[in-house]
Amino acid sequence: MTKRVAILISGGGSNMLALLRDMAAGGHPAQPVLVASNDPAAAGLVKAAAAGVTVAAVDHRPFKGDRAAFEAALLEPILAAEPDILCLAGFMRVLTPAFVGRFAGRMLNIHPSLLPLYPGLHTHQRALDAGDAEAGCTVHEVTPVLDDGPILGQARVPILPGDTAETLAARVLVQEHRLYPAVLRRFAGGDRSPLYL
Ligand code: GAR
Repeated sequence: MTKRVAILISGGGSNMLALLRDMAAGGHPAQPVLVASNDPAAAGLVKAAAAGVTVAAVDHRPFKGDRAAFEAALLEPILAAEPDILCLAGFMRVLTPAFVGRFAGRMLNIHPSLLPLYPGLHTHQRALDAGDAEAGCTVHEVTPVLDDGPILGQARVPILPGDTAETLAARVLVQEHRLYPAVLRRFAGGDRSPLYL
């Protein structure tokens, strides 16, 4: 049975689009059933709708720090879509353990660092500041601990002389677009062994 995938975004949604494109290719074990955002103005929503996917927006701002109430509202379109798998793709809100627990073992996230290095924000600048020779991205299962959870895949890039956070982010993003679809394909097919590109 084809797995049903919901994708949560907050912005441009380039990773979400990479997932949609791969799922649109033949023989994929998953299909997109929803793209939802906490930002009604997220550019990715327009792109997802243009791709023919159901979209939903639940603005987090009126909830003013009441995470549980925000998540209850966000859950409505998600539960209506009946996803088997939930993919965070540039979703920039921290989810509560209660929300994460609902999707235990079936929620994925992509993070722009070689976890366990640099959980949280400003990953590229932190890699540059540390003098690292390499950076990259990680797809992992989501657990209640931020940017933690079993690693499902990683891709690495070199850090080059003269790199800024922006040039490095762009190099990593190219790899994100390769890694996430490849990991989702395997995961939806039942393979949770880590993929290293
Ligand atoms: C991506 O680089 C993703 O790894 C990162 O945000 C960007 C979203 O880009 N995610 C995080 O930092 C999560 N904490 P996109 O909207 O074009 O996919």
